[in-house]
Amino acid sequence: MKKVLIGLLVTVGATSVAIAEGNPEAGKPLTAVCSACHGADGNSLAPTWPKLAGQNESYLLKQMSDIKSGARNVAQMTGLLNGLSDQDLADIAAYFASQNVVVGQADAALVEAGKNLYRDGNPATGVPACMACHGPAGKGLNSASFPQLSGQHADYTAAQLKLFQSGERNNDAAKIMQNIAFKMNEREIKAVSSYIQGLY
Ligand code: HEC
Ligand code: HEC
Repeated sequence: MKKVLIGLLVTVGATSVAIAEGNPEAGKPLTAVCSACHGADGNSLAPTWPKLAGQNESYLLKQMSDIKSGARNVAQMTGLLNGLSDQDLADIAAYFASQNVVVGQADAALVEAGKNLYRDGNPATGVPACMACHGPAGKGLNSASFPQLSGQHADYTAAQLKLFQSGERNNDAAKIMQNIAFKMNEREIKAVSSYIQGLY
C-alpha cells in the first residue's frame, strides 16, 4: 500500500514538472538567436522589430505558439521556433517577461489626440478605449493575454494595427483587434501608436 502511494505521489510530481511555469534562467540562453533582432534584453533597436522586454508572459507564449504553427505569419522568423519545445517557449516567455521595457517618447504634435483615443476611444465611430483592456499605463493583463503596449515602437504598433485592419494578422481570439482596427482611420492609428511609444 505504502509503495503504491509513493508511486502515485511520484507520478503526480512528474506531471506537475512537465507543465511547469517558465523558468527565466533556462530561457535566457535560448534567446541568443533572437537578440539580433529583438535585443539581448528584449529591447529591440529597430522600430519595425517589436520590443519583447516586460511583455506579459501568457501573451508571449501565445504569439510564439501562433508564429510556430503559422497562425501568425512572421516571415523573418521562419523556422526559428521549430526546434523549440513547449517548455523552451515557456522559458523564453518567462525570460523576456522578467526584463524591463525601455520606454520611448511620443511626438508632441500627436500626443493629445493619441491620449484621447487611448483613454476614451472614439464614440462616434465605435472605437473602444484601448485602456479598457490594455490598462491606463499600457501594462495589459497577463491573466487574459492582453499584451503590454507600454513603450512599444510606434512603427511596429502602427504596422500591427494595419495588419489587423486588412485581416493579414488574424490570430486574435474572437477578432477582438481586427474589429477595433477596422474602425480606425490612418490619423488615429498614427496618433495612438505615437502615444503608446511614450506611455508607461
Ligand atoms: C530576423 C529578425 C528576427 C529574429 C532573429 C527573431 N524575430 Fe521575433 N519578430 C521579428 C519581427 C519582424 C516580428 C514582428 C513581425 C510582424 O510585423 O508581425 C517578430 C515578432 C515576434 C513576437 C511577437 C511580438 C508581439 O509583440 O506580438 C515574438 C514573441 C517573437 N518575435 C519572439 C522571437 C523569439 C523568441 C526569437 C528567437 C527564438 C525571435 N523572435 C527571433 C523578427 C525576428
Ligand atoms: C476588448 C479588449 C481590447 C481592447 C478594447 C483593445 N485591445 Fe488591443 N489587443 C487585445 C488583445 C486580446 C490582443 C492580443 C491579440 C492576439 O492574441 O494576437 C491585442 C493586441 C493589440 C496589439 C498588438 C500588440 C503586439 O505586441 O503585437 C496592438 C498594437 C493593440 N492591441 C492596440 C490596441 C489599441 C490601439 C486599442 C484602442 C484603439 C486596443 N488595442 C483596444 C485586446 C484589446
